[in-house]
Amino acid sequence: MKKPDNKAPKHLNGEIDIRQMELGDLPVCFSIGEEIFTAEKWPNLYRTWDEYELLDSYASESELCLVAEIDGKIAGFALGTMIEKRRSAWMYGYLKWIGVRPDIKRSGIGTKLFDRLTELFIERGARMMLVDTEAENHEAIQFFRKQGFGQEIKHIYLSRNLSSHPGYLKRKAVLRKLKKGEIRN
Ligand SMILES: CC(C)(COP(=O)(O)OP(=O)(O)OC[C@H]1O[C@@H](n2cnc3c(N)ncnc32)[C@H](O)[C@@H]1OP(=O)(O)O)[C@@H](O)C(=O)NCCC(=O)NCCS
Repeated sequence: MKKPDNKAPKHLNGEIDIRQMELGDLPVCFSIGEEIFTAEKWPNLYRTWDEYELLDSYASESELCLVAEIDGKIAGFALGTMIEKRRSAWMYGYLKWIGVRPDIKRSGIGTKLFDRLTELFIERGARMMLVDTEAENHEAIQFFRKQGFGQEIKHIYLSRNLSSHPGYLKRKAVLRKLKKGEIRN
């Protein structure tokens, strides 16, 4: 089990500037995400980091996509979304992803991104904020606790391998025939 490191906070030379993400920032943010959200580290059954996560967020709610910049260089990012639950008058702000470059973690960048996103959620009517992460991700859990999160609810994700299911095998056989040109689309 990975323990959170309790190193002393680092000090940065430049100012941390939080701004809305721009199209040109996507490649850098994607590669920071690839470095920190690896499947081995924090597998999450229903979400994996890929280009669509970033593109979808940017295309649908770009005003809730933020970057942290230090001396013109991207240091981290956060992606949020607003959620309206059925049969609930409340609006929720959901922090989908937050990531800071590993070499400058623990310098207050995550907090700045988080604070700005919180303001944006409130401006849009959120009354509650939601985050989630894998149970082993102690670093993120400590970070979220520091931001005032509590009421931790444990979910259990179960998985079933469908590769021997008749429907799966049928689909696979069709795809194989399509590939070989034995049947047409
Ligand atoms: C979680 C994350 C975004 C935090 O960003 P950060 O810039 O390092 O966080 P901050 O420097 O603002 O830390 C704020 C506080 O959080 C807590 N904290 C952050 N990292 C911690 C760690 N490794 N161990 C213990 N506490 C930690 C501390 O209380 C810290 O305050 P302090 O430094 O004054 O003690 C960053 O660690 C990260 O990118 N992790 C990998 C991606 C991830 O797991 N994202 C969350 C799920 S989407």
